[in-house]
Amino acid sequence: MISRAVSRRGFLGLLGGAGLAVTGCGGPGGLLTAETSGEVLTSALPLPRPFTVPLPVPATARPVRPGHYEVVQRAAKVEIIPGTPTEVWGYDGTFPGPTFDLRRGSRTVVRVRNELPVPTSTHLHGGVTPPDSDGYPTDLVVARGRGFRPAPGAHAHHDPAPWTLHAGARDYVYPLEQRAATLWYHDHRMDFTAPQVWRGLAGFLLVRDDEDDALPLPKGERDIPLMICDRAFEEDGSFRYPSVDPSLLVKPGVEDAYMEGVEGDVILVNGAPWPVLDVDAARYRLRLLNASNARRYRLALTPGGRFVQVGSDQGLLAAPVAHDTITMAPGERFDVVVDFSAHPVGAEVTLVNTLGTGPARDVMRFRVARRARDDSAVPQRLSRVEPPDRSAAVATRVFDFRRTGQGGGGSWTINGRPYRPGDSLARPRLGTTELWRFTGDFHHPVHVHLARFQVLARNGGPPAPADAGWKDTVDVRPYEVVDTLVRFEGYRGRYMMHCHNLEHEDMAMMADFEVV
Ligand code: C2O
Ligand code: CU
Ligand code: CU
Repeated sequence: MISRAVSRRGFLGLLGGAGLAVTGCGGPGGLLTAETSGEVLTSALPLPRPFTVPLPVPATARPVRPGHYEVVQRAAKVEIIPGTPTEVWGYDGTFPGPTFDLRRGSRTVVRVRNELPVPTSTHLHGGVTPPDSDGYPTDLVVARGRGFRPAPGAHAHHDPAPWTLHAGARDYVYPLEQRAATLWYHDHRMDFTAPQVWRGLAGFLLVRDDEDDALPLPKGERDIPLMICDRAFEEDGSFRYPSVDPSLLVKPGVEDAYMEGVEGDVILVNGAPWPVLDVDAARYRLRLLNASNARRYRLALTPGGRFVQVGSDQGLLAAPVAHDTITMAPGERFDVVVDFSAHPVGAEVTLVNTLGTGPARDVMRFRVARRARDDSAVPQRLSRVEPPDRSAAVATRVFDFRRTGQGGGGSWTINGRPYRPGDSLARPRLGTTELWRFTGDFHHPVHVHLARFQVLARNGGPPAPADAGWKDTVDVRPYEVVDTLVRFEGYRGRYMMHCHNLEHEDMAMMADFEVV
């Protein structure tokens, strides 16, 4: 039986013993100290010189008529590594996809047409979205003329899988009844999210509102979304990924040791390798997104500079928080203001990742090009965010993220269970708040669909400075206990929570919950 499930088991099996010990995942000693959250896949082509490619800013999506958009998921050749074409799978054939720039409460319908050789499911990360538009992993769009049959024996860990198939295209409805925030959309197909996002299926959706607009924060050209992710490349320029699926294979033969998660040795910002941006000597609002499959970043500015955080995953903080470094797990967003007027014209300010090694230590560079007028400011009061109140919780639930079943049958699980669609681990009531405690055996960035939350405590102590504000994704480190207060608002129905390390997610580290 050469089904995907068997290959997947082989994939896990390879890691049952020595592989894990070597990478530090097997023993608690390694886990407690390690900051790394995946295994680096190295590129087969010569890497470009950093800070030579200008930073691209993704195009803004244009409606076909008010409130209605259409995007086509298709393959396209783009130039990521200078002089070498790379085939991406992108929304409108671009990577990142177009940025949707939308207003709070403006109901938006996005028709997604799939022209790719694989099924897709599009999820708006951070969206308060009705369940049937949330991008459930078995709710698939299949290109016209392409059949869909799960391989025999595949998906054994979620049988019978309740597939819903849309031929050619489908509409996703986004009411956007939520605060201004930096959201992003990406593929969410069952078992294949990691390789499909790796190939380019991700983009920004910005929600704006009057409260955020009224603040004197940097605007226009000085308000820039930055999608940070890592990739590796084959010699011919194609993306390198250790996929076990023949239809997704970039090149065979590199499929072991990646159960922890796949990291690349090339850091991309908005799809460009280690780009450079000429900036005014002024304040900029940078909307940082870690869109990597598995890589964590600890961002810093050299030779110096601070990040003044004004927003988190789910919009404005109550007050700004200054950071020398920002640690970002996959899926997290940090909305920061950086003031380049502190540097002389001609200065070069490099954004680095102090958790990275070799070429992956650099992220991008800002070149202070000119003096300029700057009317912006960061007010001491940004928004009303009530501090979390533990007594508001009507229930407490514990979710343990852990690898189970060493060897052949292993997978990443939540509370000991590999994902089964339709099996809810929790039934919170609409309009209530619950205390959700997350813990686990490795780096597991925990993401909850629909519901936003505030971090109450880490290991019984106060939350970290970077935990401030409303979030939808939280960095849970090995053996850490993170308490969050989750607010269930918006819609009743079936949603999910999962680890946002996309390889863990594909290896079953997901769970449904149902808002009742
Ligand atoms: Cu960004 Cu369910 O994912
Ligand atoms: Cu999400
Ligand atoms: Cu995980």
